[in-house]
Amino acid sequence: MLHAKVISIKRDNKDVFTLVFDSKISAEPGQFIMIWVPGGKEIPMSLSSTSNPLAITFRTFGETTRTLATLKPGDRIFFRGPYGNSYPKPTGKVAYVGGGTGLASLNSMILKYDGDVFAGARTKDDLFLIRDEYKVATDDGSLGFKGTVVDLFVPHLSEYNYVFVCGPEPMVKSLIDRIDKKAKAKIFFSLERLMKCGVGICDSCSINGIRVCKDGTIFELQEVLKMTEFGVSRRTESGKIEFFANAKR
Ligand SMILES: Cc1cc2nc3c(=O)[nH]c(=O)nc-3n(C[C@H](O)[C@H](O)[C@H](O)COP(=O)(O)OP(=O)(O)OC[C@H]3O[C@@H](n4cnc5c(N)ncnc54)[C@H](O)[C@@H]3O)c2cc1C
Ligand code: FES
Repeated sequence: MLHAKVISIKRDNKDVFTLVFDSKISAEPGQFIMIWVPGGKEIPMSLSSTSNPLAITFRTFGETTRTLATLKPGDRIFFRGPYGNSYPKPTGKVAYVGGGTGLASLNSMILKYDGDVFAGARTKDDLFLIRDEYKVATDDGSLGFKGTVVDLFVPHLSEYNYVFVCGPEPMVKSLIDRIDKKAKAKIFFSLERLMKCGVGICDSCSINGIRVCKDGTIFELQEVLKMTEFGVSRRTESGKIEFFANAKR
């Protein structure tokens, strides 16, 4: 396990924080680390910046993310990685589509390659890492387009050559169900599943036998279309299969 010092920690909104840390590891946009701090568990976290210094951006959720939010400059974090594949280098017109904390993973690409960013959240208070030029959707209409980021983005798909998507599984599934599968754009998805080992051993992250941690986390549209369990069922922490609400089985 590696360790690094916290350089800074900044609050991005009421429950999202960006933690910058001092590490010399080399990582590519889209990769993640397995991070641990005393008082928490080991959890997967995308790198929201992969150029030095590195950063993670996280929503406080359970015990580990709440512990991470209490760290101060000079404190230590412990981690393994980076793991997973990376987003491919785009050409032509690029779009980024992020929902929930998905924008954290996309941010490392946005910092490197220009593109139009479509960001969605429940309300304006849930948005983070937003810049003025971003196209924003909120469920309640408190900022930007009223509706989901999928509603906002789908009519524009034909304008792009490369599209990168990251967000909660039901959001990604709804986007896939609604897009033209023959669109000219190359579309890549960073998938998120419950991860325990992060290196392809435990099977907790697998979808139709494909290990998201090791075979992904980034998959092209045609690969995701073959995953019949995607957006339908997943493993819980105890290993049991559970179905997503409103999933078409
Ligand atoms: C590859 C990857 C990258 C990630 N990157 C980020 C990021 O950049 N920013 C961020 O805020 N979060 C990210 N996450 C999600 C983050 O790892 C979880 O929110 C975190 O594990 C919560 O830990 P906790 O101890 O705070 O909460 P816990 O108490 O562990 O979590 C509360 C509940 O959420 C469930 N849960 C945890 N993770 C997942 C999951 N992936 N899918 C479904 N249910 C889950 C747990 O089973 C538990 O029931 C990422 C997840 C993955 C797989
Ligand atoms: S998290 Fe263990 S196989 Fe992916």
